Amino acid sequence: MSINIAIDGPAGAGKSTIAKRLAAELSYIYVDTGAMYRAMALYFMERGISASDEQAINDLCEDIDITIAYEAGEQQVYLNGANVSDRIRTEEVGNMASLTSVYAKVRAKLVELQHALAKRANVIMDGRDIGTCVLPDAQVKIYLTASVETRAKRRYDELQAKGVSCDIGKIERDIEKRDYQDMNREISPLRQAKDAHLVDSSALDIDEVVSAIKNICKEKNLI
Ligand code: DC
Repeated sequence: MSINIAIDGPAGAGKSTIAKRLAAELSYIYVDTGAMYRAMALYFMERGISASDEQAINDLCEDIDITIAYEAGEQQVYLNGANVSDRIRTEEVGNMASLTSVYAKVRAKLVELQHALAKRANVIMDGRDIGTCVLPDAQVKIYLTASVETRAKRRYDELQAKGVSCDIGKIERDIEKRDYQDMNREISPLRQAKDAHLVDSSALDIDEVVSAIKNICKEKNLI
């Protein structure tokens, strides 16, 4: 049986950085489920579909094929055969993914792919509903969070380092809006699973978070 580690939490909590590090250290496969919702969102955006048009989104779901591959250990997302891994990383695509991930048809399509990936390998899967819905039997569940201020400051520093000018107040407001959308939707909202370990990274660096999660895995005799 494969071992599954689920990491859920709000946008900007550092899930992907931590999950990638853990996957490399434990030789597990990292599955970034947000990237799948982003790839679908990109498809809707490119066709000028409004996020509120559920009928059009449902119809288009039939035409979308999302697949995942690994190149040099990095997850690549393919949308109808084209590698869209770089194009899905914008704020606009992230926001559209948050808005269109509320629909049952969008979720059903991706959850099926997520189940298949978790069945065939040891995975660290991150997202919003992994511990609560996708992998309810995951051996380890982590709810990784950080304060809005910390998450906004990290994002601000990242953008500054890239030379992109930005307003920290706007970043904070965007994060709050995304939290609200992801936590208050009807289907599979972001929640801490009952059996998930809460890790608040507000005052921790990456090494400290990785080691806290590894300690949880050790307690369960997984490593
Ligand atoms: O983690 P991310 O920012 O790449 O995710 C983008 C959006 O996709 C997120 O705001 C909500 C949605 N999402 C989801 O509904 N369920 C998941 N398991 C992962 C992401």
